[in-house]
Parts: sequence; C-alpha cells; structure tokens
Amino acid sequence: MRHLLDTQSLSRDDALRILDIAEDMASTQQREVKKLPTLRGKTIVNLFFEDSTRTRISFEAAAKRLSADVINFSAKGSSVSKGESLQDTAQTLQAMGADAVVIRHGASGAPRTLASSGWITAGVVNAGDGTHEHPTQALLDAFTMRKRRWGADSRGRDLAGMRVTIVGDVLHSRVARSNVWLLNTLGAHVTLVAPPTLVPQDVSAWPADVVYDLDEAIGAAPDAIMMLRIQLERMNAAYFPTEREYSRRWGLSNDRLAALKGDSIVMHPGPMNRGLEISAAAADSGRSTVLEQVSNGVSVRMAALYLLLAGAERDADANPTSPHSNTEENAR
Ligand code: NCD
Repeated sequence: MRHLLDTQSLSRDDALRILDIAEDMASTQQREVKKLPTLRGKTIVNLFFEDSTRTRISFEAAAKRLSADVINFSAKGSSVSKGESLQDTAQTLQAMGADAVVIRHGASGAPRTLASSGWITAGVVNAGDGTHEHPTQALLDAFTMRKRRWGADSRGRDLAGMRVTIVGDVLHSRVARSNVWLLNTLGAHVTLVAPPTLVPQDVSAWPADVVYDLDEAIGAAPDAIMMLRIQLERMNAAYFPTEREYSRRWGLSNDRLAALKGDSIVMHPGPMNRGLEISAAAADSGRSTVLEQVSNGVSVRMAALYLLLAGAERDADANPTSPHSNTEENAR
C-alpha cells in the first residue's frame, strides 16, 4: 500500500488486511512493553492544518509504538499562518526526509494533491480532509464493530449482514462518508438518518438508505447506531431551528437508548456534544463503544503505518509484531 487516502477506493481484501494486522497490533498493546521495533529509523510527520485531539494523539501513539521518529506539525504557530503554501510546506518535509506524512486539512482533496503532486516521495495518510473522507476513523469503527460481534474470532471476517445506522450531520461529515463506503465494501447495510437540511445532495449515489425519522430507524433494530457530531464550525447557515429541537428529533435520548435492541452498540467518533446529539447516559452506557473506538484507533493506525512503511519491504508472511521483524535492511 503506497497511500491511504480514502475508503471509497479501498478493496475488501485491503480493508481486511488492515483490520487483521490491527488485530495483531492490538494483541501487543496488552503487553507491559508496548513498543515494537518495526519502524525504527523511519520518520513520520503529523501535518495538522485543522484542530484535532484524538486523531493526532492516536497517530502519534501509533507511530511511537512502532519506534518511528515523529514530528508533529500544526498549522497554528507555523509558517502556514504566514501564508506558506502546501507545496512549500511539503517540500520542506521532503528535504527533512519524511517517510510518511499524516495530513489533516480543511480542504477536501488536500491529501490526494499531496500524494500525487510529486512534491514528496513519502506515503500519505489522510487523517480527515474537509467534508470528504477520514479513512482511519472508518477502519477503527469497522474494527470495533467486528470485535464486538466476533470477539477473539474476528480475523478474516467482514461485516456481512450487520445493520448500521448513522445519525446526524451527514452533510458535513467525512466520518459518515468514509463509513458508508467501507461498511458497504464489508457487506454491512447502512441507513442514514438526518434532518433533510443535513442530507447531502449527492446521497442518491451512495450505497445507503436515507430516512428522516430516528424512531423509525431505531424500530428497525440496527446492530450499531453511530451518532455524528453537529459540526457547527462548518455551518454557514441555520440548518435546524434550535439545538433543543435538533436534540428532541435527532438526538440519542435516554428513551431512545432504552428502545435499542439488546445487543446493539452506540458509537460516536468524538468529540461529543453531550446533551445535543447524544445524552450523557447514552455516552456512558455499557452499550457505548466510544472509548473502545479510541483504543482501537491506535491499533488500526499502527497497522496502516506498518503497511505503508514496512509492508512492501518484507515478505507477506512476516509477522509485523515480531521483536525480530526490524531487519537491518529496513532499519537503514
Ligand atoms: C471527527 C473528525 O474530525 O472528522 N473526529 C475525529 O476524528 N475523531 C469527527 C468530528 O469532528 O465530529
């Protein structure tokens, strides 16, 4: 794998490969010493042009646990605020010898521009671009669903037959887009629920059903319900009358939580607006996978970085978590 830019073009085989390697990575994260030598000598740059807490920290933890050197770059306080272009920033990173660049950017398509520009030779991972995609988030969500469903028996399995309902600000959500494509590739059935004003215009081309009534969607007994954050920072107009009204119609309230079928899980990518799209009781309930999603995120990102930076250099059977897997050759 050269880059990880989206899930729309990710094949089922590649997706399962990432998820299965993430399983291997997760099993090492129970050890007392969590660090693997796999990416020793590699340099990974986290290039964040948009605010982020968990995604940036998660990529940093993933890279460090694989023994890579990590350089964190955030646009605030950098020359980007002096007007430096993506091209100049990228060329600076190239000159510093970056092997992989993890980029979050407000403009949809920025990671692809970087990957295809010729400015850098590094592998590019999209950590969220505008309202376009957030592939590692969808992969960690799929990992979480698969784990809840199959437990220790998850390897090699897809999500065939699972019903996933994604609720809220679909219009502005790269998490929703990446999930729709990946879940479809893995055989799950996706239903989107949103106020009509927050449904994208091109949704008819997506492999998902759209309904407007959350109680109706819950009545269909989904296996997982994923609540999206209302992205006020991307809203340039009023998309719903009031927060109270939004919460009443599209929020996961305590009553709706109680109406979910016995084994269904409640997901949220974070950061949550407690009391708006999700009640505190729902966020903290035993059904909530919010914190599992965060820990799984580190394993999934370790897998992605491994495949980008080491996967091609070794034979396919090599165990990425073996203490001896850092050969002289790829240490150079
Ligand atoms: C998401 C994002 O930034 O796209 N957050 C995340 O990566 N965990 C979703 C959001 O901000 O609502």
